[in-house]
Amino acid sequence: MEIKKVGVVGCGQMGSGITQVCAQSGYQVVASEVNDELLNKGLAAINSSLTKGVAREKITRQDKDSTLARIKGTTDMKEFNDCDLVIEAAIENLDLKKKIFTELDKICPEHTILATNTSCLSIINMAMATTRPDKVLGLHFFNPATVMKLMEVVRTIATSDETLEIGREFGKSAGKTVIIAQDAPGFIVNRLMVPQLLHAIRMLETGVATRNDIDTGLTLGLNHPMGPLALSDLVGLDTLLFIANSVYAEFKDPQFAPPILLTKMVAAGWLGRKTGKGFYDYKQSS
Ligand code: 3HC
Repeated sequence: MEIKKVGVVGCGQMGSGITQVCAQSGYQVVASEVNDELLNKGLAAINSSLTKGVAREKITRQDKDSTLARIKGTTDMKEFNDCDLVIEAAIENLDLKKKIFTELDKICPEHTILATNTSCLSIINMAMATTRPDKVLGLHFFNPATVMKLMEVVRTIATSDETLEIGREFGKSAGKTVIIAQDAPGFIVNRLMVPQLLHAIRMLETGVATRNDIDTGLTLGLNHPMGPLALSDLVGLDTLLFIANSVYAEFKDPQFAPPILLTKMVAAGWLGRKTGKGFYDYKQSS
């Protein structure tokens, strides 16, 4: 099956990045949000990212214009009715995602593949909210979606071989290197990354080292592009807490138990880059 038109549900941090990646790869894209304010914010983020690309001579003005011309924003999910693939990138709430999948199943044609960008939730539960579990899979992008070269393609026990292949080809066509994971908590990358981020927070909490020394340790000692505390801020501390709690709920593995410091920072609204404060203060530098 040839994918020509892609739908993206949610135009937040990940949804807007995914929309941009798909449109820059030549797909027609419909991006939806729950209201005009959030939709306009997401579309403005795409515009600003493309404008930066032009300023840095990474893309031409014409590339920018043609990319934007391929994107249609909407607050009406019925506009997904002629999409060949829809990628759900709404907030990490399983009940909400199940509702979205049930709705997409009613709106989209029979051939449409329904994907989720969830970072940790059980995809089979979303698949079973549809009448087409064989056509449901995970397409997990990494943040920032426009920069990160990886895509995890996640298959459930019900995903057909054909759907998996379409997912793999789609990832390649979007310029990503694809790895295949089973529908297990955290898939591949978050299963490995999350314990490390949580350990770094525990080390800070128990005074093993300072924030800067922990981050410098992994940037210079392991050549990571950023340290675990800076990366936690990029991922979003609420997202990290959500993943930790979800995976802990499934495995009861203490490595995934959220540190008290993380819980408190989320309660204080210090969510990292998106709120201007996390382990670092972003308001000072902007
Ligand atoms: N959004 C879009 N583009 C961004 C960006 C952002 N937030 N931050 C940086 N970029 C772009 C820049 O525009 C620049 O593009 P260019 O090379 O085309 O000009 C490029 O990234 C490099 O940026 P900078 O030179 O400003 O800064 P760095 O070299 O320090 O790179 C970084 C920034 C790409 C964020 C780098 O530090 C990095 O790779 N960090 C690790 C990110 C990571 O691990 N992400 C995965 C998170 S886990 C995840 O997403 C899973 C989820 O389920 C939780």
